[in-house]
Amino acid sequence: MHEILIAPSILSADFARLGEEVRAIDVAGGDWVHVDVMDGHFVPNITIGPAVVAALRPHTRKVLDVHLMIAPCDPYIEAFARAGADIITVHAEAGPHLDRSLQLIRSLGRKAGVSLTPSTHESAIHHVLDRLDLVLVMTVNPGFGGQSFIPAMAEKIGSIRRMIGRRPIHLEVDGGVNVETAAVVAAAGADVLVAGSAVFAGGRYAENIEAIRSAARSAAAVAIQGK
Ligand code: DX5
Ligand code: ZN
Repeated sequence: MHEILIAPSILSADFARLGEEVRAIDVAGGDWVHVDVMDGHFVPNITIGPAVVAALRPHTRKVLDVHLMIAPCDPYIEAFARAGADIITVHAEAGPHLDRSLQLIRSLGRKAGVSLTPSTHESAIHHVLDRLDLVLVMTVNPGFGGQSFIPAMAEKIGSIRRMIGRRPIHLEVDGGVNVETAAVVAAAGADVLVAGSAVFAGGRYAENIEAIRSAARSAAAVAIQGK
C-alpha cells in the first residue's frame, strides 16, 4: 500500500497572508504545499506567478508542488524552477510539445509531472511515462476551487494506477477532494490528495488534514484487502 500524502492547495488560503498560511498548513501536517498557477488563457482565472513562489519558498521546507495551468508552459518553466518549485506539473493539453516540457523540467533538476483535465484520456501519457515523477488527475475542470468532484474520474485513476505499475510515479488527484471523495480516490489508487476548500474550511487545518488522510488510508487498506 502506498503512503497517503496530503497536499493542501493555497488557492483557498488568504492571499493577503500567504506566507503565514503556508507556515500554518506546514505545522498542521500538510505533506506538500500545492501551488495553483493560472494564466487567464488556459484556464479562466489568474493567480500566482514565479515571484510569489520565490517569496513563499523561505516559509516552508516541505515540497512545493507547482501545478501550471498555463499555455504555453515552456517559456516559464525555468522561472518556476529558479523560484524553488520542487515538482513542476504541466498540462498535457497545454502543449505544444509535452515530451520537450518534461525533459526541460528534469534538466533543471526538478521533478516532472503531467496533469490531465477530466476529458483527456489516460493514453495521452502512455509515451511519456518514463519521463514522469507524477501524474495529476484533475477531478474537476481546472480554474477554481470549491467545485464538485466528477465521479467518472475514479475509473481513470484506476487505469493510470495500472499503467504506472511498479514505476516510482506519484498518482495525485486534484479537485473536489473532501472526506467522502478522499475515500473514493484512495481506493482507486491515488497516493497524493490535493485539497483546497476541505483543508481551509473553518480554519481547522490540522483537524481537516487528518480527517482527509484517515478516510483515504482506511479506504486504501480496504481496497488492498479486496484484491
Ligand atoms: C483547481 C485547482 C485546485 C483547487 C482545488 O483548478 O487545480 O488545486 O485548488 O480546490 P478544491 O479542493 O476546493 O476543489
Ligand atoms: Zn491544482
